[in-house]
Amino acid sequence: MATKDLGIILHGATGRICSTQHLQNALAPIRAEGGLPVGDDIVMPRLLLVGRNEERLVEIARANNVTDWTTDLDAALADPAYSVFFEAAATHQRLAALGKAITAGKHIYTEKPVAPTVAEGLSLLADVEAAGLKHGAVEDKLYLPGFLKLNQLIEVGFFGRIVGFRLEFGWWVFDGKDTPSQRPSWNYKKSGGGGLLSDMHPHWRYVIENMLGPIRQVAATAWTAQPERIDENGDAYQVDVEDSTTTLIELANDAFGTIQSSWATRVRNDDLVTFHVDGTAGSAVAGLRRCWAQSAANTPIVRGFDLGAEANTGKDGADYLDDWREVPETVAYKNPYRVGWEGFIRHIVADAPFVSDLRAGIRDVQLAEACSQAAAERVWVPLPQH
Ligand SMILES: NC(=O)c1ccc[n+]([C@@H]2O[C@H](COP(=O)([O-])OP(=O)(O)OC[C@H]3O[C@@H](n4cnc5c(N)ncnc54)[C@H](O)[C@@H]3O)[C@@H](O)[C@H]2O)c1
Repeated sequence: MATKDLGIILHGATGRICSTQHLQNALAPIRAEGGLPVGDDIVMPRLLLVGRNEERLVEIARANNVTDWTTDLDAALADPAYSVFFEAAATHQRLAALGKAITAGKHIYTEKPVAPTVAEGLSLLADVEAAGLKHGAVEDKLYLPGFLKLNQLIEVGFFGRIVGFRLEFGWWVFDGKDTPSQRPSWNYKKSGGGGLLSDMHPHWRYVIENMLGPIRQVAATAWTAQPERIDENGDAYQVDVEDSTTTLIELANDAFGTIQSSWATRVRNDDLVTFHVDGTAGSAVAGLRRCWAQSAANTPIVRGFDLGAEANTGKDGADYLDDWREVPETVAYKNPYRVGWEGFIRHIVADAPFVSDLRAGIRDVQLAEACSQAAAERVWVPLPQH
């Protein structure tokens, strides 16, 4: 087996998602294990970290056994030793960075959202295709162990006919007044590319369509629960994007579902995200790691609200959680971002099919955009395939 280097520029290397998930949990382990076997070869990612803070770059490079870093993006793009450009810096600068990388002849792999609008995404796609370069979008939630288990139930026909779903996501993000906010302030500013719809709906698009089929149309509301926040410097700012949304989705197979997403809710659910699917033969709920199912045979006969004698004691007689069975873990799961990287590297070096291409990433943006429009105009918005 021959070992071949694959040069990858990581832009936004000092950011949270790039330094942890993409570097520490995906690329660094692949390198530490001696590379990724692809056909008869081993592919060794050769990394160049790009960021703006030298001190942080040195620290992250050292922690992950990487020798090359720079604060000069243009110099990195000019280096022919690197054929892939990965974009994970702040959202508002993404389009420009990807455009530069395409001009420099790099294959591109990008965090979500891939572009601010569908139109800009399609123009980027035209450019990358015209240049004969490869492209990919991060769609990591497809590989969450809980969602993989749920998907397996779909594939074996566990649900019968799927009749509905609900996807619930969120937690309380402090406004920074008494307790520091646990998310960077750009997430709550239009100028920073923030907003809950463009942040999380791209994920929900690929999760829903890959598992349940095409979305036909959407209706949505979006609002701002916490209009004033304190930023990293202790300064107050006005939030000019939504931090809470509710979406109604009609699938092409005539089933309906909802997405409830919020940075202003307190968790009392099985997990930070739960995907609940109901079918004629069974239902299941997936969290990040675990999944619980209830078949038709295990479905209790609920007769309605009846507190009975227990009402006097303040206790309800039934525990509805008893009728759910946990779906066992039958395979070893990998970090979802690593699954994405392995797929993209195989796509680059061996032309293996890669489902999460830029077109898929644009479709992810399309759901967010359609929901923004639906919320602003208070109408149903169709989601045609581009
Ligand atoms: N796939 C996922 O689940 C997931 C999760 C979190 C974030 N993300 C995406 O990853 C991106 C980064 O998010 P994060 O949470 O790591 O944010 P972050 O704020 O931790 O990191 C952003 C990085 O961008 C850099 N940056 C800011 N402005 C810049 C500019 N003008 N030019 C160059 N670099 C600049 C910052 O220095 C920082 O290193 C966002 O687009 C976000 O939507 C994806």
